Amino acid sequence: MTLAGKHILLGVTGGIAAYKSAILVRHLCNEGAEVQVVLSKGAAQFVTPVTLQALSGHPVRDDLWDREAEAAMGHIELARWADLILVAPATAHCMANLAQGAAPDLLTTLCLASDAPVLLAPAMNQAMWRDAATQRNAATLAADGKRLIGPDEGEQACGDVGPGRMAEPESLLNAVKAAFKSRHPANPRLAGLNVLVTAGPTREALDPVRFLSNHSSGKQGYAIAKAAADAGARVTLVSGPCGLPAPDNVERIEVTSALEMFEAVQARAAEQALVVGVAAVADYRPAAQAPQKIKKARAVDDDAGPPSLTLVENPDIIASVAELPNAPVVVGFAAETENALSNARHKRHRKGLDAIVVNDVSNPKIGFNSDHNAATLIWADGEVELSYQSKAALAASLIQHLADLFFRPASEMPNARPKLRATPLSSVATSSGHS
Ligand code: C5P
Repeated sequence: MTLAGKHILLGVTGGIAAYKSAILVRHLCNEGAEVQVVLSKGAAQFVTPVTLQALSGHPVRDDLWDREAEAAMGHIELARWADLILVAPATAHCMANLAQGAAPDLLTTLCLASDAPVLLAPAMNQAMWRDAATQRNAATLAADGKRLIGPDEGEQACGDVGPGRMAEPESLLNAVKAAFKSRHPANPRLAGLNVLVTAGPTREALDPVRFLSNHSSGKQGYAIAKAAADAGARVTLVSGPCGLPAPDNVERIEVTSALEMFEAVQARAAEQALVVGVAAVADYRPAAQAPQKIKKARAVDDDAGPPSLTLVENPDIIASVAELPNAPVVVGFAAETENALSNARHKRHRKGLDAIVVNDVSNPKIGFNSDHNAATLIWADGEVELSYQSKAALAASLIQHLADLFFRPASEMPNARPKLRATPLSSVATSSGHS
């Protein structure tokens, strides 16, 4: 009963996903929340007040001008009653009203009148979601401190396929729980921005049952994805296999190999403001994957020795992002075992990264599977030490530094200069080989 005693105002606006609001009420009540539902006029076309009233145990309100309801509990009282407002589904129309501070009906009035956090679950046709006006409204709402959950991608009721499906009731329940747990105020520099994080190891298949991989636990990457989401960013986590649960409010894309990770990142790179590559990507993959399990050589031919393995190089995922025209801010990680700082400075330059986070993995206290880490953040004009601390705390501190370094409004940057891109660094020799 993680929501025991919490007052949740559920706003439902007029989209086909409104039918899922009944399940959502059920989930919220099962967690101990007290739920009052407010329907927009459009929502009442999709779902009846009687259903939601029965499930929530409270009368459902849909009219700003309802004299009886206003006599019993005026809209201002209802706005004060709410510990949290969740609008699910939130239509393009509702988002447009909220983005402008317009209050033409009871729900939008409540959102404006309440100090409670507002969570929005956009749901609409994919073209409506992609429309520049909706994207502008989504960014405005996020910058105003509203949390947007979803939309998900997939098949839509109208037959289209794309982004616009309402996040599932279970994800919305998790987002509500996270909102109560979260003590992190959104960072206005990152709120509403798209951030992509790669995390975990990759697996490079040798045959159907064997692969080459590494010890990356994914913990630091997942912590960074969570810290960026806590800061209010819209986070996509492209993760190799590591068995960790996806953080709340993060869209996770699960991949296996470096090539799959490369494709997942490339497909989304153009829309990102920040890409943080934490994944321990395999530098090489077997040149060919055997279609059948490779047999022990002696079982096939008494004279045969062990098979030899030919490797080919994988693409460098974040260096490729940094090369794109209008590249986002790109931050890499470097796990080094010797000459950590100087190797990392070279690596940042060689890959055309805006910044690199280096840690000395020869220190057993901060090894791959540890819950703690210590690192140095290096960018073109400076370096800062991120002292020994939990991976979660280090992630929060890193996100704060990145927000300050790369997302300060122009008005706060009198000496702003263009982002540095990969250029030959004549004063230093480039490191040979891969570190
Ligand atoms: O493996 P390396 O030390 O070069 O990794 C440095 C950074 O580059 C890391 O952020 C890692 O995620 C990224 N990387 C990548 N694609 C590769 C290899 C590394 O994005 N193929």
